[in-house]
Amino acid sequence: MIKNSIITLRVVKIFNLKNVISIKDFQKKDIEFILNEAENLEKVAKSEEKSEELSGKILGMMFFEPSTRTHLSFESAMKRLGGSCVGFVGTEASSVSKGETLADTSKMFESYSDALVIRHNLEGAAKFISNIVDVPIINAGDGAGQHPTQTLLDLYTIRRNFDKIKGLNVALVGDLKYGRTVHSLAYALGLFDVEMSFVSPNELKMPKETLHDLKKNNVKFYQTNNLKEVIDNVDVLYVTRIQKERFPDEEEYSKIKGAYCINKSLINGKDLIVMHPLPRIDEISTDVDNTKYNKYFEQAFYGVPVRMAILKNIIKNK
Ligand code: NCD
Repeated sequence: MIKNSIITLRVVKIFNLKNVISIKDFQKKDIEFILNEAENLEKVAKSEEKSEELSGKILGMMFFEPSTRTHLSFESAMKRLGGSCVGFVGTEASSVSKGETLADTSKMFESYSDALVIRHNLEGAAKFISNIVDVPIINAGDGAGQHPTQTLLDLYTIRRNFDKIKGLNVALVGDLKYGRTVHSLAYALGLFDVEMSFVSPNELKMPKETLHDLKKNNVKFYQTNNLKEVIDNVDVLYVTRIQKERFPDEEEYSKIKGAYCINKSLINGKDLIVMHPLPRIDEISTDVDNTKYNKYFEQAFYGVPVRMAILKNIIKNK
């Protein structure tokens, strides 16, 4: 018998990742936590409500590769939460161009900021610096490796449009070999019991290691180079750019470029949405832009609430 009715409230720290390096570090509950947080922050992201939650905090941003959406949405997210940013996009104006090492540059950023976002052409760069600095590290793309925050906003876009992720049929289309967005997304979708198809030219198939991991986790997927085989059954057509900059040989790229083009007549009458992490080159025709199928611009906006959710929890967790 309980003598004293003292209720002990156990404070459960629901999100306790220190860094965001790979989506493989996320459990389903971590992803759901971030998506729910993002939903609560949408009004702040749209400036309909104000927040000072990260007031006085500084986000460091080291973008060794070009970026528009990821960089700007991180900056917007930080500022909407009352914080500020320091950093560079492109190395010309920083001491990296004088030959400073990644380790030294990261240590400098550590002393100027409360969390660090890094995009680098080398796979493993974010992981590498997470071992030498103490501030939380967010991977904004490491070569052809991972892009976990893009995946979180992709999942958010899907959930926002269908009110669920489970049970959907998702086709990942384009450069599945070098595209880091699809590498992260395939792992995450694998946690949600979706049906996946991987549609790519034979030369740009999903890496064997990813396929192996998915199989090991009993995730079902179908591989093809023919989009027409799957297009009638998909709920989400996730289209990607052929990653020209990752090809060792430019001639190989020229053979494959333009492999897929989604246009209005291809999808007219079908019950699906079209997503793309952007930038697009020629894989989605502009005649899709003014149709109900276009979710790629909305998707880019969701980068703000989702990255707010990440920053809020990563910086507060310090
Ligand atoms: C992607 C990237 O950098 O991997 N862009 C982005 O972050 N939205 C996709 C790409 O560059 O093709």
